[in-house]
Amino acid sequence: MSGGIGSGVVGVGLVGAGNISGQYLDTLSQVKDVELRFIADLIPERAEGQATKYGVAAHGTLEQLLERDDIEIVVNLTLPAVHAEVGRQIIAAGKNVWSEKPLALEHDQGADLLAAADAAGVRVACAPDTVLGGGIQSALRAIAAGKIGTPLTATTLFHVPGPNSWHPDPEFLFAYGAGPLFDIGPYYVTTLVHAFGSASKVAAVSSTSHQTREIGSGPRAGTVFPVEVPTHHAALISFEAGQSAQTTLSFQNALPRNGFVEISGTEGTIVLPDPNLFDGDSTLWTFGKEEPETLTAKGSFWGRGTGVVDLARSIRAGVPERASGAVAAHVLDVLLAIRGAAESGTVVDVASSITKPEALPEDFDPAAATL
Ligand SMILES: NC(=O)c1ccc[n+]([C@@H]2O[C@H](COP(=O)([O-])OP(=O)(O)OC[C@H]3O[C@@H](n4cnc5c(N)ncnc54)[C@H](O)[C@@H]3O)[C@@H](O)[C@H]2O)c1
Repeated sequence: MSGGIGSGVVGVGLVGAGNISGQYLDTLSQVKDVELRFIADLIPERAEGQATKYGVAAHGTLEQLLERDDIEIVVNLTLPAVHAEVGRQIIAAGKNVWSEKPLALEHDQGADLLAAADAAGVRVACAPDTVLGGGIQSALRAIAAGKIGTPLTATTLFHVPGPNSWHPDPEFLFAYGAGPLFDIGPYYVTTLVHAFGSASKVAAVSSTSHQTREIGSGPRAGTVFPVEVPTHHAALISFEAGQSAQTTLSFQNALPRNGFVEISGTEGTIVLPDPNLFDGDSTLWTFGKEEPETLTAKGSFWGRGTGVVDLARSIRAGVPERASGAVAAHVLDVLLAIRGAAESGTVVDVASSITKPEALPEDFDPAAATL
């Protein structure tokens, strides 16, 4: 990757003004290096409502957004089933993509998206950007500094009753492309990939507790809808560098226990903060010491949209973005391997390999004016 492209603040458009858009807009309307210029949605009132609330000058359809020549990055917050298709439209318009997770639903879709971006000379970056938050980054810096010695094993746990209790339109979270594996798995697997590097093999089991679910909140509360994918996965993941992880992702536990990531090495164990959040301290247990040590989180605690700012700066500087499409495509391959292993009852190889991302410096600040 050579010199940077363009100069000055980067124009951003957003497509998909639904449930999560407010968290992005909270960040993107305040930081200095990007300027929000357009909000699009299939439902015009949603786009208009968020544009009015956040003082964004224009709103309308995705097609109208893509006609704008003052927008370089489009933030794709549509549903998983159309992430890749909408991403292809954005690339075809010569714009860079920030995608919500998962990047795509199948390996070829993800690979084709990255190839199309390469051919068009634009980039694809992808959520989760929680991994860039001061919470997880402080833990990754501690691991990189040798605080647990050589990292060997990890245990992650995400157990909840299910998002049908709180999401007003939760059908997509129980459909092809979601379930706990593809909806929540990206947070945990991305953190493991940042800690260990590429995953290589997976064994897994899955189950489905209920064939239907009921919407628990919002105007459609009481609506019953079908469950199309497993709502529990337990996986054993092997990593190329020799580490292993046990990972449980469940939308069918009456006892909520989530946000748990523990990594052990030759010298100790570190308990990381919730990988779905940007903040949170870590706890370090060292062999031979009775009391654990709190590692206070340092870094950026800005929320969703942090990765968009990093993408904007990386485009200008001509350096790789941190929440890269390559990492997201590898994480997708791990999730697909978990699905495949559970379905087949065999150990499944992970289809891709990446370079382990470096931990961020403590002074990383998405709000600083740098462009
Ligand atoms: N809700 C959360 O807590 C949360 C958290 C993190 C990530 N996400 C991710 O964000 C994405 C959106 O989730 P959500 O909860 O906001 O869903 P949502 O259903 O509330 O909103 C999605 C919006 O996208 C619009 N849309 C769909 N297809 C479109 C298209 N082709 N063109 C234009 N607009 C289109 C819909 O009209 C809707 O307003 C998903 O990928 C989800 O995994 C959600």
